[in-house]
Amino acid sequence: MDMDKLVSLCKRRGFIFPSSEIYGGINGFWDYGPLGVELKRNVKDAWWNDNVKLHNDVRALPGAPSAYEMTGLDCSIIMHPRVWEASGHVGGFNDPMVDCKETQQRYRADQLYVFGVSSKNSPATEFRVEGNLRRLGDWAEHWVSAVGASVLDAWEAVKPRAAKLAKTKPDRLEAPTPATTVLYLDIAPEDRARVLGPNATEPGTLTEPRQFSLMFKTNVGALEDASSLAYLRPETAQGIFANFRNVVDTSRVKLPFGIAQVGKSFRNEITPRNYTFRSREFEQMEIEFFCHPDESEAWYKFWRDRRFQWYVAHGLKSDKLRLRDHDPDELAFYSKATADIEYAFPFGVSELEGIAHRSDYDLSQHQKFSGKDLSYLDEERWERDKAGLGFSSFKEYLKSREGQERPGYPYQFVPHVIEPSAGADRATLAFLCEAYTEDTVGGEARTVLKFHPRFAPIKAAVFPLVKRDGMPELAEKIYLDLKTHFNVFFDEKGAIGRRYRRQDEAGTPFGITVDSQTLTDGTVTFRDRDSCRQWRVPSAGVVQAVRDLLDGQPVPAADPA
Ligand code: GAP
Repeated sequence: MDMDKLVSLCKRRGFIFPSSEIYGGINGFWDYGPLGVELKRNVKDAWWNDNVKLHNDVRALPGAPSAYEMTGLDCSIIMHPRVWEASGHVGGFNDPMVDCKETQQRYRADQLYVFGVSSKNSPATEFRVEGNLRRLGDWAEHWVSAVGASVLDAWEAVKPRAAKLAKTKPDRLEAPTPATTVLYLDIAPEDRARVLGPNATEPGTLTEPRQFSLMFKTNVGALEDASSLAYLRPETAQGIFANFRNVVDTSRVKLPFGIAQVGKSFRNEITPRNYTFRSREFEQMEIEFFCHPDESEAWYKFWRDRRFQWYVAHGLKSDKLRLRDHDPDELAFYSKATADIEYAFPFGVSELEGIAHRSDYDLSQHQKFSGKDLSYLDEERWERDKAGLGFSSFKEYLKSREGQERPGYPYQFVPHVIEPSAGADRATLAFLCEAYTEDTVGGEARTVLKFHPRFAPIKAAVFPLVKRDGMPELAEKIYLDLKTHFNVFFDEKGAIGRRYRRQDEAGTPFGITVDSQTLTDGTVTFRDRDSCRQWRVPSAGVVQAVRDLLDGQPVPAADPA
């Protein structure tokens, strides 16, 4: 699928616009148009419904170690700055940045790949790219760099230049692998002068990597000094941790339980790119799932598989979707396991969602920085066990274990956290990419967005075949009946074929046409977006028919012509 075609359709049909476009746009910020806002809202609503509202629906539970509760929060975007010190964002939420003095472009040094090129007219086998520039300095006469989502993306971009330097044809160069590529970040400072930057004409124009904070800063109140410094949240997660005590004390939830939040996050990304994939303002859909430390690994597996299945159930094809477990050396020191759900976007395989086992790290940090007790007492378990243990009160139990590392364990502890953290914009983009289809119907080419009906911005469009014989009035009545239940669209302009095409491009799953037969037998024509099959439905049953189809009832066979 060609990304440019999707971007152009999204603009043309009002899914996504560049922010502030009449002023030339602003890099890394996007606006959702009339169709886009519905699409993204449907994605967020589906996520909320499936994870929060329907959490205890028995169908949602297979694989769960036990029953669990879910609740939600909507926290402020600006929080006390100490939150971000406790979370580690103030000190450590940085990306290494590199500037090119010649082209004035800025890059993330950890996404800037460097390939070695021998200028001898080398056959493919002699074109070697290795992980250590210094060791290979003897034979590689040129070093050429490129940015990419992956080594292969970067390689594609740099291949013509590499071939020119090596005085050979691009197809004679062997594709490198991650293991045989140098990241600019890893190159010894004295060797950096030999690297030719992306699109630069002279080597040595790239600066030393510098750490760049991704946190957007602002000031709260009238004074603009260090005392009023605050941050726009870079993730929704910390609002959940900061409210853990409030939720436990007010909502009577018992472990295991999860708190969900959907909301805006902000990161001053060095290189926002790939459309909405890496933006500076975006929305996250995050769950912090609190559980007993002894059960945390089972819960991690549960969430990892459950979240993967959610994307499959909504139409992302398994050959484009993968669950990638992080290698132990990729894990943060406090994390026992992390997996990324990745999707093969047209610009490369990239992360949709991360599921992390965060142990008790976040709550312990907030406990330390705030001085507030964020432990959890499992009263039921204590009440059940205390007689057998021979204690009359928990205080006595604690006293008996004085000096131990976790005196309250296994009854009182800082819960462990499993965090499924998704991006609403990335999910929306993946569903758009998956839906984009070009096919031919009746000999005519069309573009159609084959969304899962749950996500479709418009669920059905109603058309009078012609603007006479009472058809517009009948169609309008059906439209108004449907409108109280679903987002529907009325269109009476132009040839019916054109009207169908317009709705195909908007991803509308069903078309309903009032035609001459309606006037005689009261039925209307239903048309399925994907198969273009048509069948008749009594006009009095249209609402129920749309509901059944949206609920997954199969599209009937076409009526005989
Ligand atoms: N609390 C954990 C956390 O924020 P993350 O991997 O940094 O983890 C989670 O972000 C998800 O948020 C990502 O998988 C992605 O879907 C989304 N996301 C992160 N940065 C983004 C950006 N710059 N633009 C769009 N979505 C982003």
